[in-house]
Parts: sequence; structure tokens; C-alpha cells
Amino acid sequence: MDLRGGERGKKSEPEQFLKMPANYYLFTGAAGYVGSHVLRFFIERGEHCVVLDNLSKGHREAVPEKTPFFQADISDTDQLAHIFNTYPVSGILHFAGYIEVGESVKDPGKYFENNVSRAVPFLEAVRKFQIPWVLFSSSAAVYGEPEKIPILENDSLKPTSPYGLTKLMMENMLQVYEKSFGIRSVCLRYFNAAGACPSGGLGESHTPESHLIPRACKAAINGVPFLSIYGTDYQTPDGTCIRDYVHIWDLAEAHYLSAKALDRGMNSTVYNIGSEKGYSVKEVLKTLEVISNRKIPIQIEERRAGDPAVLVASSKRIRQELGWDPKYQSLEKILVSAYQWHETHPDGFAKSLKNH
Ligand code: UFG
Repeated sequence: MDLRGGERGKKSEPEQFLKMPANYYLFTGAAGYVGSHVLRFFIERGEHCVVLDNLSKGHREAVPEKTPFFQADISDTDQLAHIFNTYPVSGILHFAGYIEVGESVKDPGKYFENNVSRAVPFLEAVRKFQIPWVLFSSSAAVYGEPEKIPILENDSLKPTSPYGLTKLMMENMLQVYEKSFGIRSVCLRYFNAAGACPSGGLGESHTPESHLIPRACKAAINGVPFLSIYGTDYQTPDGTCIRDYVHIWDLAEAHYLSAKALDRGMNSTVYNIGSEKGYSVKEVLKTLEVISNRKIPIQIEERRAGDPAVLVASSKRIRQELGWDPKYQSLEKILVSAYQWHETHPDGFAKSLKNH
């Protein structure tokens, strides 16, 4: 494996290398939904960031033009070497990865290959260049069917989908890299991230869209003919799955606090990121109908493979240890912000969208 500096991939770099700031954060997968919001949060706070994204899923428009951007895969060790040789990277925020529970059940190999195999050369480069820490975008999917609610970080880990398993495998790999090479990590186990950047210009846009809130917004605005409800026979009060929705900007703040703590030398840890409240699919739809003042056409379908009935987090640990204080924590606020984005961006990131 050649980890010396390479020049492949499209890139845009700062004009004045002589004025290079003392430290950069490398974001992988920052053209995606969560990564782009966290990137915006960091940039708004004056942080220097560099982005690596292969654009297989993300949107170039979601990354500001001025931010150094490398279109390449996380397994591209020449490109990683080039970045590490060029920018003084003090920590990595790793978002790149496939994220769909249902797809991972149908095509597990795709998830093992992308989320795990490609992470091996990536971690080898991190080790070789002695990057002090990795902040990893993990998931509530690592728990599988929970034994009790709310879920605590040290509850049992039994993923019910290949997607969740790949997240757990990556968490385990990070633990090994710490033990063997001292690379510290924080794994943030997101519950259901939703909503859009409060200052506008960024939002959730997946192709194809599989998540409940964006699909429901599109159904309300007539972007899709109806909303499928995957299962009404779960052991929940109304028979539909219960999820813990967390606003994307609160999630971004959790990354910022974690990165700063890692910079101060914090030991490796794992944090749940959720709102500690659960809402059923039907409750989400009902609230969105009120917000949008529109009827959402629905179709009842079979359960989706890999979906646990209830997922609700305890986020006490990050609140106590890092002072995380979510500000957009209500289903209404999340849905209002998601709906506004979809109403103003019915085609997601259209080519004509001005860069921010
Ligand atoms: N759902 C529908 N109809 C849809 C889409 C979703 O009924 O059109 C249901 C799902 O079955 C699920 C709930 O709405 O019960 C939420 O589904 P999402 O696809 O919005 O989100 P997931 O819960 O599947 O996934 C999220 C994150 C994952 C994380 C997972 C934990 O996107 O990263 O929670 O299970 F791993």
C-alpha cells in the first residue's frame, strides 16, 4: 500500500499555503445529509475543515465552494496521504458510509464492502499519519431490538440489520486501533436525525429517499403519491414503530462538543444522541398534517425487514460529560424545519442552487 502523497481526484485548495491555519479537521462524507450540516456548524464557528467525499450519494452543492474538497473514496490512500501531507489534520470526522437499513438486508455485501472493507485502508492511513482521533458517525442500529427503554450506551449490542452490524464492526475496529496505536475515538450513536439547518440552504436530500420524515414531507407537498407505513402490527400503542427524532443542528452541536473534548485529550467513549422521547410513525404523520395543513395519503404495507419496534435513547451521558444542551428538541420544531426545506427545495439540491 503506497501512502505517499498523490495527486488524484478533483480538488480545490486554499490559494495561500503560507497562511495555512494550525489545524484542520478532515470530514469524510461531508456532502451527505449529516456531514454537510456538521461541516456548516464547524465553519460557522471559524474552524478550518477539509472534505473527502466520493459523491456516490452526497451533493457537491452541500459543501461550500471555499472549503478544500477532494472527490475520492475513503479507501484512496494516495489521496489521503496527499491530504495529510498538505493539511495539518488534528482530527477526523468520519461520516462516509451507506445508511439504509432495508437496503442492507437486501444487499449486505454492499454494506460490508463499503462501510467496513474500505475503512481498513482508511484506518491504516490514519495510523500511518498518526492522526490523534476519529469521531465516528455510528447509529442506534447497533443495539438492535432493545431490552429496555430508554437505551443506555452500555446496553447489549445485537444489531438486527447488516447496516447496524457494519456500524458496530467499525466501532470495534476503532477500539482495536486505540489499543494498538493510541488513536482515540468517539462514536456518536445517532437515533433518528431529522430537520434542516436553521439558517437555510441545507437540508435532507437522499436519492432514493427512504427516510420517514422527508418522504412524508414530499407526500404532503405531492412529491410522491402516497406515504407507505411499514407495518401496523408492532407491539406499540398504535401498532407503528416508535423512533427518537433528534434535530440535525443539535446533532451537529454534539459533534462540535465531542471534537473539542477530543482536542483536549478526552479518552475514547461512546455517546447516544437522541431526544429521549419516542414518536410513532402515525404520530409523526399526524403532526406533519397539522404543520403542513395538508392530508398525507398513506398506504399500509408489510413490515420493513430489520426495523426494531421501539428505539428511544438516554442521552444523559453526553449531557453530563460534555454539557450537550439540545435547543430544537421537539417533534414540532423538527418537522417545521424539515417541511420548510422540502417546500422551498422540492427537488433537493437542484443544480441552480447558489452555493452558500
Ligand atoms: N417508515 C415508514 N415509511 C417510510 C419510511 C419509514 O413507515 O416511507 C418507518 C420505518 O419503518 C421506521 C420509521 O418509519 O419504523 C423510521 O424510518 P426511517 O427510515 O426514517 O429511519 P430508520 O429508523 O430506519 O433509520 C434511522 C437512521 C439509521 C439508524 C436507524 C436505527 O436513518 O441510520 O434509524 O434503526 F440506524
